[in-house]
Amino acid sequence: MGFPTERPRRLRGHPLLRALTAETRLCKEQLICPYFVCPGRGVRKPITSMPGQFQFSVDTLVEECQATQQSGLPAVLLFGIPETKDAKGSSGYADDGIVQRAIEAIKERCQNLLVITDVCLCEYTDHGHCGIVSDDPRAGTVDNDATLPLLAAEAVSHAQAGADIVAPSAMMDGQVQAVRNALDERDFPHIPIMAYAAKYASSFYGPFREAAESPPAFGDRRAYQMDPANSDEAMREVALDVAEGADIVMVKPALHFLDIIYRTKQEFGMPTAAYFVSGEYSQIKAAAERGWLDETKAVLESHTAVIRAGADMIITYYARKLADML
Ligand code: PBG
Repeated sequence: MGFPTERPRRLRGHPLLRALTAETRLCKEQLICPYFVCPGRGVRKPITSMPGQFQFSVDTLVEECQATQQSGLPAVLLFGIPETKDAKGSSGYADDGIVQRAIEAIKERCQNLLVITDVCLCEYTDHGHCGIVSDDPRAGTVDNDATLPLLAAEAVSHAQAGADIVAPSAMMDGQVQAVRNALDERDFPHIPIMAYAAKYASSFYGPFREAAESPPAFGDRRAYQMDPANSDEAMREVALDVAEGADIVMVKPALHFLDIIYRTKQEFGMPTAAYFVSGEYSQIKAAAERGWLDETKAVLESHTAVIRAGADMIITYYARKLADML
């Protein structure tokens, strides 16, 4: 059997024929738009390492979120740049913290927009690590278990402010369970957890460090983020997060980890998110600015690839641009 060799490619000519038979569809309902919220009023401060991205104060962020909702995007992901930082990241779980205030303001004005929050300490600690720094160097840079209650408190404070989904991203062992237990105890059993399940120690987070003003003051995050050489390890990380109660599992970054996205979707069948990170955004921007890449085509191709690999949703700084294109 088999196909005749000289088979006409009838389905490839007209763009509508191609659209009709496309195996992968990218649509705006799959996209989540990340935002950085900072103190002040009327702030819209450009992030140099990420052209087209800004730090917003709460008031300007609300306007931005209204436009985001208007554009048909379903969700935003919030990162906070606090007024003060300390060793324990206490501004991260303060009731009047920057993210908490932003959530309240957005939920008041944008009823049709899901607010997801990044639950991590690196934006709020003066040393820039994702947890409490341990005094025992044998334990690695951070004290895993001492960090868990702080992440749980941060997630609860986000839920209290009105967050729809919390996304623990510190890569501490047991963080999903700690957050789940705390949410359930405080009467938030309905709030889903999007777990940064397979988070690699990646150079592609580079531009984010400027955006969130959170570079580690010493050392790096390799002690608690994953080695890009490993793929079975990612499956073990995802399995743990699913067992601990994750509702959505995330792979991060996206483009260099398409095989991880594929395996995660195949092996777990869970709602799967991919994070198209700062460096993946900025590399396209930089090349496009030089005229080396066609930005629109590169953005469509790369995001389609992430969906083709198995992601159900993409967190991407290109969300607004894609919303206009799709
Ligand atoms: C916080 C966090 C980081 C990113 C998302 N959440 C920084 C890191 O893990 O080092 C990176 C996102 C991006 O690069 O766009 N832990």
